[in-house]
Amino acid sequence: MERKKPIILSGIQPSGQLCIANYIGAIKNWVDFQDDYDSIFLIVDMHALTVKQVPAELRKRCLSFLAQYIACGIDPQKSTIAIQSHIPQHAELTWVLNCITSLGELNRMTQFKDKSKKNESNINAGLFTYPILMAADILLYQADLVPVGADQKQHLELTRNLAQRFNHLYSDTFVVPEPYIPKFGARIMSLQDPTSKMSKSDKNENSLVALLDHPDVITKKIKRAVTDSGTEIRFDDKNPGISNLISLYSVLTKKSVSEVESHFEGKMYSALKIELAEVIVDTLKPIQQRYNEIMKDKNYLEGVLEAGAENAYYRARKTLSKVYRKIGFIAKK
Ligand code: TRP
Repeated sequence: MERKKPIILSGIQPSGQLCIANYIGAIKNWVDFQDDYDSIFLIVDMHALTVKQVPAELRKRCLSFLAQYIACGIDPQKSTIAIQSHIPQHAELTWVLNCITSLGELNRMTQFKDKSKKNESNINAGLFTYPILMAADILLYQADLVPVGADQKQHLELTRNLAQRFNHLYSDTFVVPEPYIPKFGARIMSLQDPTSKMSKSDKNENSLVALLDHPDVITKKIKRAVTDSGTEIRFDDKNPGISNLISLYSVLTKKSVSEVESHFEGKMYSALKIELAEVIVDTLKPIQQRYNEIMKDKNYLEGVLEAGAENAYYRARKTLSKVYRKIGFIAKK
């Protein structure tokens, strides 16, 4: 008998530009998961609304992210790729979960505090309830495993609490998901401030390598990467700049950190920067080529979205009708 594969679910907000940290920390791992898991990868446009968006750009970016997912190796024949707003059950389940979440729980979310500090002019209610929408994303599909960055661990903990709480209040309904936090990638830091994470929404473009950056731009950004004043190419927490470049080189070439260190023994920082830029350019070249091909075929992209939404809708509807029945709503005929 065929055993059902465990379900994996993850998502990225369509804001900023997908960058090498998203590739290493998320998308590359998703590609590896596809064969062994029933996989769902979302473009969470509803989450992106928590910061101000230019409508035409948001629309374009969602399509571009979809094409980048596929160009990186997410195969729509194997995985479900969908846009969050195409499946109304995300908003509907969010409401139900809102009503079993306490303000105290949301107040403890460190990302809310960080984001409100950065976004003082627009601290909207969506920013506050964002983790509940994320919980709905996960619980709707009965996900077993959720790959996320370390910064999302607290949101995953809330999701688990909400699942357990609902199951306890109304009987078993949701799978309680496990987080999957990759060892690498959580560690890719900004090229301009190596003490903070490389972020796809960083206003300073020099701090990130975008997946769609031109090779000349990549070389320039790596050359300008902030390093400390040392001379030795050694991984050391005291020298976060050079350590970050070593990490990048190490993941992309699949060499261990000590192999990288001996490879660059006696060489100057500039040698690492030159080689690293080449490695990144070589990694991204086939992705960019595929991206350009896919973007030409809008019918194909629309077909992927339609199939993804249909599959996701079917599954989400099943969970939501169970939830509605359990909480005492009358089924609509
Ligand atoms: N909040 C996540 C982030 O910023 C994105 C996200 C939204 C997500 N819904 C999700 C990730 C569901 C995993 C599963 O990284």
